[in-house]
Amino acid sequence: MNTGFKIIGWGSSVPDLVLTNADLEKMVDTSDEWILERTGIRERRVGAESTSGLAIEASQKALAKAGLQGNDVDFVVAATLTADQVCPGIAAYVQAELGVRGGALDINAACSGFAYGLITAQGLIMAGANRVLVIGAERLSTITDYTDRNTAVLFGDGAGALLVEAVQEGGDMLAWDAGCDGSLAHLLYCEHGDYIRMDGKEVFRNAVRAVVESSTNVLAEAGVTADDISLLVPHQANIRIVQAVCQRLGIPEERAAMVIEKYANTSSASIPLALVDAIDNGRVQPGDLLLLTGFGAGMTWASAVLRWPR
Ligand code: ACO
Repeated sequence: MNTGFKIIGWGSSVPDLVLTNADLEKMVDTSDEWILERTGIRERRVGAESTSGLAIEASQKALAKAGLQGNDVDFVVAATLTADQVCPGIAAYVQAELGVRGGALDINAACSGFAYGLITAQGLIMAGANRVLVIGAERLSTITDYTDRNTAVLFGDGAGALLVEAVQEGGDMLAWDAGCDGSLAHLLYCEHGDYIRMDGKEVFRNAVRAVVESSTNVLAEAGVTADDISLLVPHQANIRIVQAVCQRLGIPEERAAMVIEKYANTSSASIPLALVDAIDNGRVQPGDLLLLTGFGAGMTWASAVLRWPR
């Protein structure tokens, strides 16, 4: 009987093309100074050929880390709001390219998608799956209005993936929390064929509240405190949101994994991109407790406490 999962692989992928704040100064009425001060973003990656391509590359790296092949995986869970087409989902392309033998589905919970994906993987594993690939992948440049300075500066492309494997005792996810308030859908949305529209100030206010509440819930559920958390891995929407969250939770800012400066907001890819960057930079040690927390359109939110495998 499976009791949870252990994390056995991870990987990320971003397109090569860099769009700097200086580039954006030539496109809309903005400045490097404003963007950096108000958001923490210096540059973002754009121009990926497809969201599934980013997802496939991140997944291949996760498999290589675990020394496994696609046919060792029995489920693909891909979080995205920018699938290549309305259907099929990007998980189908990942399945085909990697030769996964099992199910494949997309999740759209906007920027909370990756955390929702981990929770879904836990459920699949409890139901009997053995290995699940959890992906967050986005090509937000395709739904960004580069004539609107309110949103043009905020978004980028990228992907990250974790490979998890069933265990029969314990598990690396100690607790999870997820929620949604659909009455706030009007604050942040994207119609078919249109661009992302949002009320930035209201999203900001609700994001801080939701992330703090969700984090507090998940810490209590895991039976740990903020002091026990070695690394906070927050959704990367605005550095000021992360600072406000750190302050309210009592977690020093230095303990937050941040990649917003170089990748901007990549929605469901932002948490795995920040996590993989922290691992690559030696910021995650065996036994560390990690708090992953995100919020996004819906409004949705989700958090998980992970113990990094020994
Ligand atoms: N460059 C220069 N000035 C700008 C820019 C810009 N790029 N954007 C807005 N401004 C101006 C505004 O027009 C306004 O000018 P005014 O006072 O003359 O009207 C002024 O700057 C202040 O605007 P605010 O909206 O008050 O700026 P704020 O400090 O709130 O920052 C921001 C705006 C960055 C959008 C912030 O509110 C935010 O980050 N909100 C949360 C966004 C978020 O988390 N979104 C999640 C989306 S994820 C997804 O689902 C894909």
